Amino acid sequence: MSGFNRPDKPEEQAPDDHRPTHATDAVSDVASETLAAEALPEISDERLRTMTQDELVDVGSKLDGVEVVSRDYRLEPGSRAEKRAERRVALCFTLAAIFVLAFLVLYIWFPWKYTDAAPFESTLASYYTPLLGFTLGGSLLLIGAGLVFWSRDLMPHEVSIQERHEGASPEIERLATAATLQQGAEGVGIARRTMIRRSLMGAGGLFGLVLLIPVLGGMIKNPYKDNGLYFTAWRKNMRLVRLNGTPIRPGDMEPGALETVFPGVEGALSPDTIADSTTMLIRMHSNQAAKFKSRPGQANYRWNEYVAFSKICTHLGCPVSLYEQQTGRILCPCHQSQFDITQDAKPIFGPATRSLPSLPITLDEDGYFIARHDYREAVGPAFWDRERRPS
Ligand code: FES
Repeated sequence: MSGFNRPDKPEEQAPDDHRPTHATDAVSDVASETLAAEALPEISDERLRTMTQDELVDVGSKLDGVEVVSRDYRLEPGSRAEKRAERRVALCFTLAAIFVLAFLVLYIWFPWKYTDAAPFESTLASYYTPLLGFTLGGSLLLIGAGLVFWSRDLMPHEVSIQERHEGASPEIERLATAATLQQGAEGVGIARRTMIRRSLMGAGGLFGLVLLIPVLGGMIKNPYKDNGLYFTAWRKNMRLVRLNGTPIRPGDMEPGALETVFPGVEGALSPDTIADSTTMLIRMHSNQAAKFKSRPGQANYRWNEYVAFSKICTHLGCPVSLYEQQTGRILCPCHQSQFDITQDAKPIFGPATRSLPSLPITLDEDGYFIARHDYREAVGPAFWDRERRPS
């Protein structure tokens, strides 16, 4: 037979200890008296194995010096008020699930792209972020409210007092602790309250999707498609034209000359496209062309002595229109960055750290310059230093 007894009571408290308030003192005294009155009997191993959950919890509490002073439900179990409370909790979780669903739908399908609007006028896109915040915040709020209602109205409210002790717990205490936890889980009622369980699982499961939505959203809807950050107006076989729309042939430019060119297509000279498509067509001197060193993978981007670079500085986006033809340097007037065209517009001075993107060019059947395809690198101030996606 193995037996156990309640641990020794703590020593008398020193007069200068930090004592609790009078109310707590009173409860502690009651608990101590109760514990003292209910000294644990010795229990056999067989009896121990056959004890019910409640008995184990009771024994465990006493072993731990815990006295359950009260354990009540705010609403009577099985009453109409309890059913109402249960429905309220389920409603919170269900609404939370709907809010999460709304968030997912908005995130993927809401027209978020910026469109022009008069000053102080709102477009649909201006509601995108507030709606995401409202739906996601609303779902969190509703899940929180459901949990609060659940714990307030449907879970048991227990007041227990525990005496402190030291040392490792024996097996009986571990069993008792497991039983206590199990009883606590049963008190929560997740197993028998199917309505709450299902609504909570729905809300929680959908909320988990929020973490995956940046990945899943990209699979459902291609974030790069029609995203102006990744593309300019240049397309395959599009002519290089001057501002007045005239195309350019090789013979039109002297060695050392520079022309500012745009995509030669109807509507391509809108402010939207000029902003990132403006390009410099440069005819190098023959000695510069001889030592031209292209960057990896772009050896065929130039046409004989002609090269085309984005006119937007990769530092902060100023137009880099100062060209020193003898030295083959392009200067940015804003912060004096210099780009060497013989090194494929590599920055050799100033704050810019990235070469000017190069536009691949060739001639069409009429002998005019055309683009082979769009820029392969991000034009302008680095766009978070990301490479342009291949189209
Ligand atoms: S914008 Fe060109 S150097 Fe700063």
